[in-house]
Amino acid sequence: MDMVGVVYMSRSTRPMQSDDLDRLLMDARTYNAEKDVTGVLLYGASQFFQYFEGHPADVEDVYERIRRSSLHQQLVELERRRVPQRFFHKWFMGFRDAPASAIQKLSQQRWMHEIPWAEDHSATSPGMQQLMAFLDTGSIEDA
Ligand SMILES: Cc1cc2nc3c(=O)[nH]c(=O)nc-3n(C[C@H](O)[C@H](O)[C@H](O)COP(=O)(O)O)c2cc1C
Repeated sequence: MDMVGVVYMSRSTRPMQSDDLDRLLMDARTYNAEKDVTGVLLYGASQFFQYFEGHPADVEDVYERIRRSSLHQQLVELERRRVPQRFFHKWFMGFRDAPASAIQKLSQQRWMHEIPWAEDHSATSPGMQQLMAFLDTGSIEDA
């Protein structure tokens, strides 16, 4: 069955303390585990960056909850497409602190939207590759 992945960035409506983030993640992970949605959230300097993946209907449910949250605003979708496989098998929502510069660089990568007649569905976007590199090494090459 097809899997869908979504990438977006947004700004927190107020600076998030670690308690606020703990609460958010606890809530998100509980719901994501029910829906089998996996992914990772980055936060730094009032900037959120998130990737989440799962079966289309489940991703829609989670996306709706995310869009409704009063904790952030100015959500900009960077990628939304079928993904060849799940990237985060065990993370119902992983978390990393990230410097604003890393989130800025990630946002400037090439992300892919579904273009049915032109896309290679099996390819991983350059943006996704950089996200993986950041999780692995803690840094990002310039776009
Ligand atoms: C940056 C961000 C990421 C979120 N990620 C998820 C998620 O992965 N899964 C989920 O079910 N809800 C997610 N949510 C929603 C929250 O878990 C929860 O609904 C929210 O903290 C409560 O928002 P409220 O204060 O507006 O009621 C996210 C919210 C924000 C702001």
